[in-house]
Amino acid sequence: MAELKNFSASEIALHSSKKDCWLVVDGKVYDVTGFLEDHPGGEEVLLYASGTGDATQSFEDVGHSSSAKSMMNRYLIGNVEGYDADFRAALKEKVAAERRKEDSRDFWETRKNEQTLQLLDPRRHGFTCGIFINI
Ligand code: HEM
Repeated sequence: MAELKNFSASEIALHSSKKDCWLVVDGKVYDVTGFLEDHPGGEEVLLYASGTGDATQSFEDVGHSSSAKSMMNRYLIGNVEGYDADFRAALKEKVAAERRKEDSRDFWETRKNEQTLQLLDPRRHGFTCGIFINI
């Protein structure tokens, strides 16, 4: 197996999509992109857990079997730089902050598109337009 790398929180935060999905469990980094479709618990939970920055708690809460735990080795790509309890909290916050930045960008994009659509909606232009449409 190739030597494991150390990854920083900001690097990990960049890999949280269906096409490129990394998970952090117990300070280890897993690339589960190729496993999303095969995960018995579904891909949505993996994508969500990836976005939270630290999937340790969710992974443990499910009570995965020992065979699930040994499967993880296939996807192991590295370690989280300087991982400990404090770091775990900071990592979670940092990844969540990165995600919020992305979400708010999406939010304003969506708003802009919605507003443009509303302006194009003839019903917004009052009675005259209403008559025009009815004709
Ligand atoms: C590399 C990481 C993971 C591997 C290899 C993995 C593997 C598996 C396997 C083999 C199962 C079948 C049941 C079992 O053998 O325990 C399973 C079920 C499940 N997993 Fe994961 N899993 C991973 C990460 C996660 C994470 C981060 C979550 C987050 C919530 C999750 C949520 C679930 C759920 C909800 C089920 C279904 C449990 C059920 O219906 O009984 N898994 N997983």
